[in-house]
Amino acid sequence: MGRIAYVDGRYVPHRTARVHVEDRGYQFADGVYEVMAVVAGAFVDEEPHLDRLDRSLAAVRIRWPMSRAALRVVLREMVRRNFPGGYGSVYLQITRGVAARNHAFPAAAKPVLVMTARTLPPFDLAAARRGVRVITVDDERWRRPDIKSVSLLPNVLAKQLAVESGAFEAWLVDDEGLVTEGTASNAWIVTDQGEVVTRQADRSILAGITRGSLMALVYAHGLRLIDRPFSVGEARAAKEAFLTSTTSWVKPVIAIDGVPIGSGAIGGLTERLLEYYAGYVQAATEVNGGRERL
Ligand code: PDD
Repeated sequence: MGRIAYVDGRYVPHRTARVHVEDRGYQFADGVYEVMAVVAGAFVDEEPHLDRLDRSLAAVRIRWPMSRAALRVVLREMVRRNFPGGYGSVYLQITRGVAARNHAFPAAAKPVLVMTARTLPPFDLAAARRGVRVITVDDERWRRPDIKSVSLLPNVLAKQLAVESGAFEAWLVDDEGLVTEGTASNAWIVTDQGEVVTRQADRSILAGITRGSLMALVYAHGLRLIDRPFSVGEARAAKEAFLTSTTSWVKPVIAIDGVPIGSGAIGGLTERLLEYYAGYVQAATEVNGGRERL
């Protein structure tokens, strides 16, 4: 079975999926997106992702291309056609539509919805425990990273610097020397006092869905969570560090700018949080429906 994409109302073979050259996503990055994980045939945190999509669309004044219920149907159809019962991720993007190039909103264009699916192997907990390196890079993004916009050039450039220096991710640093988040993930540290710290979700970061679910797990297990900014210096000297995202789940950070974090291997609290999150995903995708619901 070949990969199938969804382009503006049609399911098409991935390799021939095309959008118009005057799609405003292409010309102006005038659009928003979501990435959702599929585990054992079910979406992880589907409703929070759709809530965030709703907030992104409202913030940039693009209307829903279809009802939320219809969008859920298309999402399920993408899973059915691409990885029934399997593992993967679905990317969805909504742009303001196709129109003659002109910065102001077009009078007539209708929003264009595109989805692609990517098969992934089941999450490898043993590999995840090994951890990753991050570097720090100036945060050069616009002032609304809370909107999940497809305008990702600063993220692309920072991630490329990370790759070129043998790191997995770049943590972005604001004008005050405080870490905002990663190029495609949220940033966390654990203090000597055992407090779990991640930046508050104001306009300076994307409110990660994985971040939100993990925060709930931190509270549920009686751990101390503080949402506040932390500096690069504090992060390098932290007891533990990790990052979260839809595809990374909870990834230990074992070095920042070449400085080992803690023992230079996964920290004890990070290991617990990774297990809690893995348990959460398993329960959410099995108990709450899993394959039957699709
Ligand atoms: N990235 N911060 C940024 C800038 C992101 O792009 C992402 C997600 C996150 C984590 O959010 P979530 O837990 O909802 O995935 C934080 C996606 C996965 C991407 O662009 O591929």
